[in-house]
Amino acid sequence: MFCHTVKVGTAAGMEEIMNRKWWKEAVIYQIYPRSFMDSNGDGIGDLQGIISRLDYLKYLGIDVIWLSPIYKSPGDDNGYDISDYQDIMDEFGTMADFDTLLAAAHERGIKIVMDLVVNHTSDEHRWFVESRKSSDNEYRDYYIWKKGKDGGTPPNNWGSCFGGSAWQYDEATDMYYLHLFSRKQPDLNWDNPKVRREVFDMMTWWCDKGIDGFRMDVISMISKTKEMPDGKVHDLYGDYAPYCVHGPNVHKYLQEMNKEVLSRYDIMTVGETPGVTTQLAGQYAGEDAGELNMVFQFEHVEGDGKYGKWTDEKIPLTTLKKILSRWQTELYGKAWNSLFWDNHDQPRAVSRFGDDRPAYREVSAKMLATCLHMLQGTPYIYQGEELGMTNYPFQSPDDFRDIESINAYREWCLDGQLSHEVFWPCITFKSRDNARTPMQWSDSEQAGFTTGTPWIAVNPNYREINAKAQAADPESVFHYYRKLIALRREHPIMVYGRYEELLADSEELFVYTRTLESETLLVVCSFCDHETVFAIPQEFAGASCLISNRNGDYTGTKITLKPYEAFVLHTNV
Ligand code: GLC
Ligand code: CA
Repeated sequence: MFCHTVKVGTAAGMEEIMNRKWWKEAVIYQIYPRSFMDSNGDGIGDLQGIISRLDYLKYLGIDVIWLSPIYKSPGDDNGYDISDYQDIMDEFGTMADFDTLLAAAHERGIKIVMDLVVNHTSDEHRWFVESRKSSDNEYRDYYIWKKGKDGGTPPNNWGSCFGGSAWQYDEATDMYYLHLFSRKQPDLNWDNPKVRREVFDMMTWWCDKGIDGFRMDVISMISKTKEMPDGKVHDLYGDYAPYCVHGPNVHKYLQEMNKEVLSRYDIMTVGETPGVTTQLAGQYAGEDAGELNMVFQFEHVEGDGKYGKWTDEKIPLTTLKKILSRWQTELYGKAWNSLFWDNHDQPRAVSRFGDDRPAYREVSAKMLATCLHMLQGTPYIYQGEELGMTNYPFQSPDDFRDIESINAYREWCLDGQLSHEVFWPCITFKSRDNARTPMQWSDSEQAGFTTGTPWIAVNPNYREINAKAQAADPESVFHYYRKLIALRREHPIMVYGRYEELLADSEELFVYTRTLESETLLVVCSFCDHETVFAIPQEFAGASCLISNRNGDYTGTKITLKPYEAFVLHTNV
């Protein structure tokens, strides 16, 4: 069994080797406030709602909350369109509520990481209201304005992430502004030093309040090439990616941010960096890069699309393993991984990577949790994942609330090439709204999320899947997550151990080891709905089992794994 005294004795040495940091050892829980808990019956989650559930999070055992945006916003993209960075969205409460939340979280030993959305603002932000007024306005250069081409077409062919052109014509000055997301999300001009100063001052203001870090929205997109040529055309529009993703000055600006703000506080930072490779991750978040602590990479949740990002197919296990293994080995000792299966932009983990049929939902949710939490990196749990919440059974396009899904349905089906029959399974499998249905707290009306009418429908399976029932059931997905989180505290090998993959060609099993000094873990996860045979490697004969989702017997040499079985063996010789 695990021996504490040995670990304590080697801790100092390990610290040196592994560069120990609190954010490497933490487990992070993402809250999407609109859908977490409504305290006043208006159907919209809010800050008081979060405060009322802090004890639940404390009991789960997480260390850090990542709060999706709570700032003042007209809500075109659910808060990712900010009109005032130093105020709170009306529906969510007041700054006093925020201060209460921060203090109440800190009292419980829970840190709060804010979402920093500074690639763009809302078009209702006062900077943009000024900027669009005239070409000599003092805020004009806070955004990216260009003349159209002769004949009245946009400056180039770029498409926006949410459909349509990335340029919006503005009559007042007869020019176009750039918006890589919705037209209510104009991109800031980071080449303007005044913009950087404003952003850094705002960040400092939040740090001085005592927040514990930032998750930085699409931070790899803040620097744009000056020339802005047409991009390669996919479907209807040109791709802005090579010109606006990892642009010419992105590292310069992040180093400046680090120097001006981040390095002055004991906070954690994670960059949302679409398009990042392992090599680039070393630049954004290398141990000595002087930029960020870690990045979110998207290779395992992107690239599976049939029509743009849309698909109804699961990623083959060998592809998934290849991607995750590459990130494990190539970042080792150089940069730090962020580990996630889902978030507010992705479908539900169990529906996508596991199996949400009733017979397999719980066991596959636990298997996915095992697989992720045993990898090297900081694990992120998205609200409801700890209950094995599933995708939503959409009936019609009217069920969508998300701007991306609404626009995609229009572009692909109503105006486009695909029939409803072909596109519907794809959009319902991948829609961001799958993750945004209300948190399922109990089996009472509206899953205990609100006493009113929720802004987006509750998944009808809340009577079976809810926090109250799972807290009372020691065999639940919820208690399994609690156990994994508790194990992380006891076993630094889960955090720092070196990763090595076994059986890379298997389409059924994800198997790997972790090694730290004299200790080793063997992690075995079945990703299939039938039995499989697995030979336990010699070194693990008779090893102790740290956790398993089927409570099997793993002492033999050849074992038959049940569908979605997962277990972890531990040796210390
Ligand atoms: C990020 C956010 C997403 C948002 C987009 C624009 O990808 O995670 O929710 O729509 O940026 O801010
Ligand atoms: Ca509310």
